[in-house]
Amino acid sequence: MNVQSTVLDRYSEGAKEVQPDLCCPVSYNTELLHALPKEIIDKDYGCGDPSRYVRKGDVVLDLGSGAGKICYMAAQLVGDKGQVIGIDMNDDMLALARKHQPDMAVKLGGNRVRFTKGNIQDLALDVDAMERYLEKAPVSNARDLASLTLWQSKQRLEQPLIADSSVDLVISNCVLNLVSDAEKQQLVQEIFRVLKPGGRVAISDIVSDEPIPVHLKRDPELWSGCISGAFHEQEFLQVFVDNGFLAVTYDKWEAAPWQVVEGIEFRSVTLTAIKGASSECLDKGHAVIYRGPYASITDDEEHVFYRGERMAVCERTFHFLTEGPMKNDFIGIAPAIEREPIPWCAPPGTKRPVAETKGGIISNTTNSGCC
Ligand SMILES: C[S@@+](CC[C@H](N)C(=O)[O-])C[C@H]1O[C@@H](n2cnc3c(N)ncnc32)[C@H](O)[C@@H]1O
Repeated sequence: MNVQSTVLDRYSEGAKEVQPDLCCPVSYNTELLHALPKEIIDKDYGCGDPSRYVRKGDVVLDLGSGAGKICYMAAQLVGDKGQVIGIDMNDDMLALARKHQPDMAVKLGGNRVRFTKGNIQDLALDVDAMERYLEKAPVSNARDLASLTLWQSKQRLEQPLIADSSVDLVISNCVLNLVSDAEKQQLVQEIFRVLKPGGRVAISDIVSDEPIPVHLKRDPELWSGCISGAFHEQEFLQVFVDNGFLAVTYDKWEAAPWQVVEGIEFRSVTLTAIKGASSECLDKGHAVIYRGPYASITDDEEHVFYRGERMAVCERTFHFLTEGPMKNDFIGIAPAIEREPIPWCAPPGTKRPVAETKGGIISNTTNSGCC
């Protein structure tokens, strides 16, 4: 089965006529839907609402933007300093999303959304530019193919469609499952590449509760219908951890499965994660105390935090733990006088002697903001 052409055909139909089989019930923030044309609301093939994670001023990239609903919702949240880019490989979907752009620009008070043609597993490749190249230099033999490959490498490097470290928030609604298994690793690497340091991810997608057998994966209806290409529920988290993301979390987990096929449950989830602000570990004498309630916890970089102990951390980990999504779980102790920075990341379980932290600047003393 050619995954890409099966998916292209299915979503070209979906752009022309509403496909009830592709619709998964989702409760959206209805206030954001008022401004949207009915056609965009109806041709919704999402399975969650990643627009909930958008902040004012964000540059947002929506992978597999389809008719553009999430992009137009996000555009209302980013405000006039923000920007939303929808990327999709399907011309019919892009045409549908772009059709309403002038009206939406008037309603939103500015044109903050653009829709661009690309493959989400190769965010540097400018597919429109490649098609223009192919008109002039069609591929009919191995030599032409080698020229195309060279052109692609140069284009990715010199004028990437989505530049390195250019996006605050990558969102996606029911699309990652449509990418071939062979390209799923590369897809997550690409998400990492385009995010700014400290950038966020919010992906709504379908996961399976058991491994999916090959005969289901080879079924074009099940694959293009967002079912048999789904990640397994543990693998979905793991692929983000393996590619360097921090704080990888299921922020939403639908109790009821959307579909059950041969006893395998397929349900909608929303994964959130963060790209670390820097990769350099410098020791300046910082410590954190894990509040509990567990005896200890271990992060994805294998730091171990014992409840109530002053644990040594590098400056990068200190800021992540005391300012990031787990900030309510940690008390921070910054050194009163920072020592000369030494490249060092604390080996698992390293404690910071009390004498070294006395007089330090203590932060996050309460986790509730209440007395
Ligand atoms: C299930 S629909 C979801 C559309 C939209 N996110 C929504 O919430 O309605 C999947 C969309 O992803 C696009 N798509 C699938 N695989 C893609 C890929 N590898 N690269 C770019 N777009 C892709 C399809 O063309 C289609 O528009």
